[in-house]
Amino acid sequence: MTSPTTTIEVAPDPAAVGEQVAARIAAIIEDKPNAVIGVATGSSPEPVYRALARRVREGLDVAGVQWYALDEYLGLPAGHPQCYRSVLERVLIEPLGADPATLHVPDGPVQDYEEAITAAGVDVQLLGIGENGHIGFNEPGTSFAAVTHRATLAESTRRANARFFTRLEDVPTECQTQGLATIMRAARIELVAIGTRKAAAVAAMLGEVTESCPASILQRHPDVHITLDPTAATKLSTARR
Ligand code: GLP
Repeated sequence: MTSPTTTIEVAPDPAAVGEQVAARIAAIIEDKPNAVIGVATGSSPEPVYRALARRVREGLDVAGVQWYALDEYLGLPAGHPQCYRSVLERVLIEPLGADPATLHVPDGPVQDYEEAITAAGVDVQLLGIGENGHIGFNEPGTSFAAVTHRATLAESTRRANARFFTRLEDVPTECQTQGLATIMRAARIELVAIGTRKAAAVAAMLGEVTESCPASILQRHPDVHITLDPTAATKLSTARR
């Protein structure tokens, strides 16, 4: 379904979600070899990275691309396997054969990151969505005007992300994240949602535009592509699917 600003597509399975989004990102890179791409962590974008890696093996050249992460935990030791720099090196940079120096993560002063990403200008921002409607680590209640900032994780997010750690106590309580205003400056948004546990957040994102559902701000963006697997689309009215 297409509105003036938002396209929603339901792909048959997670691999197909990955293929569709990767095809559009690859087209951007082919058109602009020094593209600036905003990248997300979490399980949802991983099929996109796998599909992009296949395209690189088939000849797509990503040597000129700069990659900017959405967010990073605070308080994990450098090199911890769950810090988002490590995750993105593992799932994106290494499979693509990219130079780790092309990956930028908000793990230093937030003002410096905001300045760097503003100067770079994001051509396409890849997003997942939290079960509570967060994007990046912009939890419900975050101002739509926020730029890159330090934040406290919602308890529900810590519980959702505990599956990546040994114990809930090991999940950090704080993070740094691109703000909603930072994300909205990307020329294009590609949001991916996979799984039944995302169905309510996907429906809320397309409902009332409110700071209680951070992802709902995307309805104000001029170029948003939402790609879902069938289970993430189950709470959309049939008119929207
Ligand atoms: C984390 C990230 C978000 C991501 C979310 C969903 O909280 N900070 O950027 O969208 O996880 O992750 P998953 O796709 O694994 O459900």
